[in-house]
Amino acid sequence: MCNTRALGVVLSAVLVVLHCGVIAQVSAQGSNTTSRWQTLSGNPPLVVARGGFSGLFPDSSSVAYSLALITSVPDVILWCDVQLTKDGAGICFPDLKLDNGSNIAVVLKNQRKTYLVNGVPTPGWFSIDYTLSDLSNIILNQGVYSRTNKFDGNVFQILTVEDVARQLKPPGLWLNIQHDAFYLQHNLSMISFVRSVSRSVVVSYISSPEVSFLRNIAARFRRSTTKLVFRFLGQTDIEPTTNQTYGSLSKNLTFIKTFASGVLVPKDYIWPVDENLYLLPHTSVVPHTSVVLDAHKEGLEVFASNFANDVPFSFNYSYDPLAEYLHFIDNGDFSVDGVLSDFPITPSEAIDCFAHLGRNASKQVDLLVISKNGASGNFPGCTGSAYEKAILDGADVIDCPVQMSKDGIPFCLSFINLINSTTVAQSSFSNLTVTIPEIMAGSGIFTFDLTWNEIQTLTPSISNPYFRYKLFRNPKNKSAGKFLKLSDFLDMAKNASSLSGVLISIENAAYLAEKRGMSVTDEVMKALSNAGYDNLTALKVMIQSTNSSVLMKFKEKNNYELVYKVDEQIRDALNSTVEDIKKFAHSVVVDKESVFPENTAFITGVTDVVTRLQSFKLPVYVETFSNEFVSQAWDFFSDATVEINSFFMGAGINGVITDFPETAARYRRNRCLSRGDNTPAYMSPVQPGSLMQLITPLYLPPAEAPNPVLTDSDVVEPPLPPVTQVPPLAPGGGGTAAAPTPPNGQPKFTACIFLSSMATILATLLLL
Ligand SMILES: *[C@@H]1O[C@H](CO)[C@@H](O)[C@H](O)[C@H]1NC(C)=O
Ligand SMILES: *[C@@H]1O[C@H](CO)[C@@H](O)[C@H](O)[C@H]1NC(C)=O
Ligand SMILES: *[C@@H]1O[C@H](CO)[C@@H](O)[C@H](O)[C@H]1NC(C)=O
Ligand SMILES: *[C@@H]1O[C@H](CO)[C@@H](O)[C@H](O)[C@H]1NC(C)=O
Ligand SMILES: *[C@@H]1O[C@H](CO)[C@@H](O)[C@H](O)[C@H]1NC(C)=O
Ligand SMILES: *[C@@H]1O[C@H](CO)[C@@H](O)[C@H](O)[C@H]1NC(C)=O
Ligand SMILES: *[C@@H]1O[C@H](CO)[C@@H](O)[C@H](O)[C@H]1NC(C)=O
Ligand SMILES: *[C@@H]1O[C@H](CO)[C@@H](O)[C@H](O)[C@H]1NC(C)=O
Ligand SMILES: *[C@@H]1O[C@H](CO)[C@@H](O)[C@H](O)[C@H]1NC(C)=O
Ligand SMILES: *[C@@H]1O[C@H](CO)[C@@H](O)[C@H](O)[C@H]1NC(C)=O
Ligand SMILES: *[C@@H]1O[C@H](CO)[C@@H](O)[C@H](O)[C@H]1NC(C)=O
Ligand SMILES: *[C@@H]1O[C@H](CO)[C@@H](O)[C@H](O)[C@H]1NC(C)=O
Repeated sequence: MCNTRALGVVLSAVLVVLHCGVIAQVSAQGSNTTSRWQTLSGNPPLVVARGGFSGLFPDSSSVAYSLALITSVPDVILWCDVQLTKDGAGICFPDLKLDNGSNIAVVLKNQRKTYLVNGVPTPGWFSIDYTLSDLSNIILNQGVYSRTNKFDGNVFQILTVEDVARQLKPPGLWLNIQHDAFYLQHNLSMISFVRSVSRSVVVSYISSPEVSFLRNIAARFRRSTTKLVFRFLGQTDIEPTTNQTYGSLSKNLTFIKTFASGVLVPKDYIWPVDENLYLLPHTSVVPHTSVVLDAHKEGLEVFASNFANDVPFSFNYSYDPLAEYLHFIDNGDFSVDGVLSDFPITPSEAIDCFAHLGRNASKQVDLLVISKNGASGNFPGCTGSAYEKAILDGADVIDCPVQMSKDGIPFCLSFINLINSTTVAQSSFSNLTVTIPEIMAGSGIFTFDLTWNEIQTLTPSISNPYFRYKLFRNPKNKSAGKFLKLSDFLDMAKNASSLSGVLISIENAAYLAEKRGMSVTDEVMKALSNAGYDNLTALKVMIQSTNSSVLMKFKEKNNYELVYKVDEQIRDALNSTVEDIKKFAHSVVVDKESVFPENTAFITGVTDVVTRLQSFKLPVYVETFSNEFVSQAWDFFSDATVEINSFFMGAGINGVITDFPETAARYRRNRCLSRGDNTPAYMSPVQPGSLMQLITPLYLPPAEAPNPVLTDSDVVEPPLPPVTQVPPLAPGGGGTAAAPTPPNGQPKFTACIFLSSMATILATLLLL
């Protein structure tokens, strides 16, 4: 099962490309999906890689093109934005301005010029001022600041169209001619260029947003295999030839058909979003969603553009780029004929592995999907709505982190501090703010200081772990749902036939016993027994804690699975320690970096943690899997499915703990998992560490000290103290009252380096 080879081979192939100029030959697996495609031809939609795999490597570089070939469907089309040099050579470069995506502004300082571009004076470095040989020492770099710049030292040269065709031998080549009018003003003819280049290389598609350009070449290409595609820009932008807006031209497809065989439209022409980034409701009376059907009626192919995994897209997709592609290619009404993507691996998976699966396609692999506070990516954590969604989305196990109210009611809430998941700080209970160092650093408002009735009056608030990147979760439902007592949670789970278990996690048991006179372990046992779980065979009960003494309390319950959560990042565990763990636990939870450690969001390798624990027959569950791309290492291509697949197929983990259970549950059903040796590259695990090997020394981040090995002293805990008889206390009894300041409690461990460096990069982007 642990086939870590495929993408490792891929990236070493890329290395070869880098160092020797040799091009890797691709042998991705073909797809055989029965034809249910609602494309114009009935064939699967095409994947068009914009500048290659430009989501990771510098746009239009050999490495970006190579990676696209290696990680995509076998008929992937490489997209080249053509610019002309002073001597009429056609180069692939993403922008009219060479300073956006290369080091030209540094190498040729003081050569900035200002030209009129579509009537707008535009300063920059332009290819019309340089011959091809002038550009030979210019190096491509990352032009999009939210993406990693760690490959900027790799000396990627500017490629000509012929270079891309001859060296990379793509199955298809797409030339985009964005600025024919500009080059014409400077006496450089794109028409002559495409005529001559199409004599020497096979061009599959030529696109342009300029009507005059396409009309001028239409006759020349009428009898060739090259297809002409009219590119739509923004709805209100003016097309220079007709002086009409692109929006109005989109209603005049008969006219487009006179010179083109297809159209390329921004994705919001097809699925418009409202001002809050939600898709407009999908109803048959909404005319705009008919773009694809109307174009198909005209005999025009429709390609959709602007797909990237690392920019915010509609909330309806829950930050899952795969879900977005599926909505364009498998929605029951139509399929676009191709997508233009910066991350071609994701549409490749969508088309070959996930389209037309159906919600009840069978599981292909044995990977347990455990929710994290319910579907807390979509609803406030631990509310009924979050649990309902988790069940609907196909989680096997839903989780209840048990907290105690002042009047001794056990209920589900992500954390003992109410500030994290409610608006308590803005309520009349804000005067209950206290500091309790045994529980957390900083101050909080703790569940045991409010009665259950009071807690029910609080407004739940959705978790926003990536708010620093301005990535917010489902704003429309940010206060939706009601909190549940543990007993209600257990009843709900009992009625959900798709579940295989519940996970109940218990923290701060010692503090609650000693300082608040509450036995959370007894309360949990009582609730389980009252709900009939002791005799329930259909649902497995999992009890999770970071405290071995808590698990010991449940030792006699021999039908429960006891789950030990390691609360630090580790790289291994001593055999003696694992033997200790075996004495009180049946399985273990570790965090993602204990499996694949990272440095500045690059995976540095794979630890022995999973193999060590599994060699003692302890299943390993890993947390926390999220859809937001900033939660994933670069190695996973900003694709949550690639990440899950790499942990499962590569590291062999037994379960995922996720706040977006839909993504993980869907992953298990994909048809590419059953192909054995023919598993395509896009469903193969990434090779840990291989991406980092591509970074040149100057750009390499400083090495970090490895995580520690888990030792015996890390797992032994004093037994739980007896439950003291505590008289009703003033709020925060045992703590010190503090002013109601915002919480600054730190989690016990944080991946600070990853987050802070990405924060800086994204902050830069947000300034643009
Ligand atoms: C594709 O699948 C269909 C139905 O599953 C099968 O009949 C056909 O032979 C397959 N084609 C190829 C080329 O494998
Ligand atoms: C640079 O080019 C990228 C596309 O390659 C584009 O997204 C970005 O907006 C451009 N930046 C500037 C400053 O023009
Ligand atoms: C283009 O060529 C024409 C005629 O050959 C000439 O008059 C004009 O100055 C040239 N323009 C540029 C920008 O070189
Ligand atoms: C379509 O566009 C062409 C070119 O601008 C114009 O001549 C024609 O009148 C338009 N037709 C309609 C129905 O708008
Ligand atoms: C384009 O339309 C605008 C207003 O509709 C008009 O002012 C302008 O002269 C037109 N330009 C051309 C080249 O027809
Ligand atoms: C997108 O989500 C919004 C809000 O939940 C909903 O009203 C709308 O119908 C959804 N759109 C589609 C196309 O599913
Ligand atoms: C999915 O399940 C439903 C009922 O559970 C069944 O009627 C339907 O045929 C199934 N669909 C597929 C594609 O298996
Ligand atoms: C907190 O404020 C409420 C009124 O908003 C008051 O009834 C309560 O006694 C206060 N509690 C403390 C501990 O000050
Ligand atoms: C989530 O938000 C949508 C749109 O506002 C609303 O229709 C739906 O009822 C909300 N769901 C819950 C569980 O509150
Ligand atoms: C559960 O099973 C035990 C025996 O295994 C039995 O004594 C007990 O009465 C059962 N409880 C319920 C609620 O059925
Ligand atoms: C640890 O345990 C594994 C498997 O039980 C065994 O193969 C290995 O030799 C042990 N290592 C040490 C250092 O004892
Ligand atoms: C609680 O919230 C604080 C502040 O937002 C955060 O630093 C901390 O990690 C959160 N703790 C948990 C367990 O969610």
